[in-house]
Amino acid sequence: MATETLKFPDGFKWGSATSAHQVEGGNYNDWSSQCRDCSRVEPKFRKPCIPCAGKACDSYNRYEEDFDIAQKLNHNIHRFSIEWSRIEPEEGKFDEKEMEHYKRLIDALRERGIEPMVTLWHFTNPVWFAEKGGWLNHKAPEYFTRYVKYVVDNFHDRHSMSVMPKLWITFNEAASVWAGFSYLNGQWPPQHKNIFKYIKVRKNFIKAQALAYREIKKVYKDTSHNVAVGLVESNVYSAQGNRWYEKTIGKFYNYQRNLYFWDKALPYYDFLGLNYYHVDRRVPGNYRVLPKQGWMPEMNWEIYPEGICHVLKDLSKFKKPIYITENGIADGTDKLRDKFIKEHLRWIWQAIQDGVDVRGYLYWSLLDNFEWAHGFAPKFGLVEIDYATLERKIRPSAYEYARICETNSMIYDL
Ligand code: BGC
Repeated sequence: MATETLKFPDGFKWGSATSAHQVEGGNYNDWSSQCRDCSRVEPKFRKPCIPCAGKACDSYNRYEEDFDIAQKLNHNIHRFSIEWSRIEPEEGKFDEKEMEHYKRLIDALRERGIEPMVTLWHFTNPVWFAEKGGWLNHKAPEYFTRYVKYVVDNFHDRHSMSVMPKLWITFNEAASVWAGFSYLNGQWPPQHKNIFKYIKVRKNFIKAQALAYREIKKVYKDTSHNVAVGLVESNVYSAQGNRWYEKTIGKFYNYQRNLYFWDKALPYYDFLGLNYYHVDRRVPGNYRVLPKQGWMPEMNWEIYPEGICHVLKDLSKFKKPIYITENGIADGTDKLRDKFIKEHLRWIWQAIQDGVDVRGYLYWSLLDNFEWAHGFAPKFGLVEIDYATLERKIRPSAYEYARICETNSMIYDL
């Protein structure tokens, strides 16, 4: 079979991502306070069941073991999130011990030659914040920024330049995913179904982005710190029909689903974090332009690797560097993962050849983990977790990916 070696730009970052509530275990936040044992849901509960993360992967205690694996797999960047509810368990009261924990975690990454990429919010909120109305509260942006300030101040004061994280992310998919699941279709806490609340929450995120961004930049005002603040959103590939009304609907949908937050939050971020997984069929006429593609059974998602190239080209209009902050497949068999990664990388490489400024690729996820409303069933990990023993087992596809990370290039079968 003919092959081609695809080289990535010098300094391209390779790694994987996780989030606090999905791997840490033992969190007390707006998700855990509303979760139930979904295997025994009684019919009287009309709302969708919110499963519990429980001890998850116990990464709160086992992070060194996890990072040893990432190092062994040649990763040079790792994205994780700080759990707001740990740092500020009660309103205005910050927990220094928890802050120390995250500093140790960052040191542990640095010691292994892995660059930390720190997400400040990945779907979960402290209970006190939720009780005040959460992201509907007009003061939510200030509450969030107070927490952000506490975190960045801590690094600024005590960490030397070499260990201070340089890549920060304010929000993960706040407008494109979280607002919809939590305020439109009522699946995630607080399980509301109200378009006006949805609109309000999304506006509050925009305010929070501007405030938090300015705060981080104020703390790190010396430009030699090279601190970059990113905003992560999820984009779907939404094929647009070719009739005039299909194009109009397609454009509107694409803006609302994919571009809204990045567009409204300009200029308050330095890079875009793109999470890309699947095709979206909501726009009329799309089957005429894009026939049915491959399937990811564990999530019921349609896979379209070429879509990431189209999405990246579309995002280049924001004229900022882009990191692929998530891309991955739930596949407990590990039969599809290697191909999934390579096909996506082939199209990311293409986007780079076409002039898009992509700086790194972070596979979702390092570990199998708690997949929100789906519980523990989908297996996204490069590493398999035995949830009874918490034993970590590296999957064969992880070694394939490790070769790409090591050589900064990929041998692609034509
Ligand atoms: C989220 C992750 C999630 C992944 C797979 C992204 O939307 O950021 O938390 O696990 O998709 O569903």
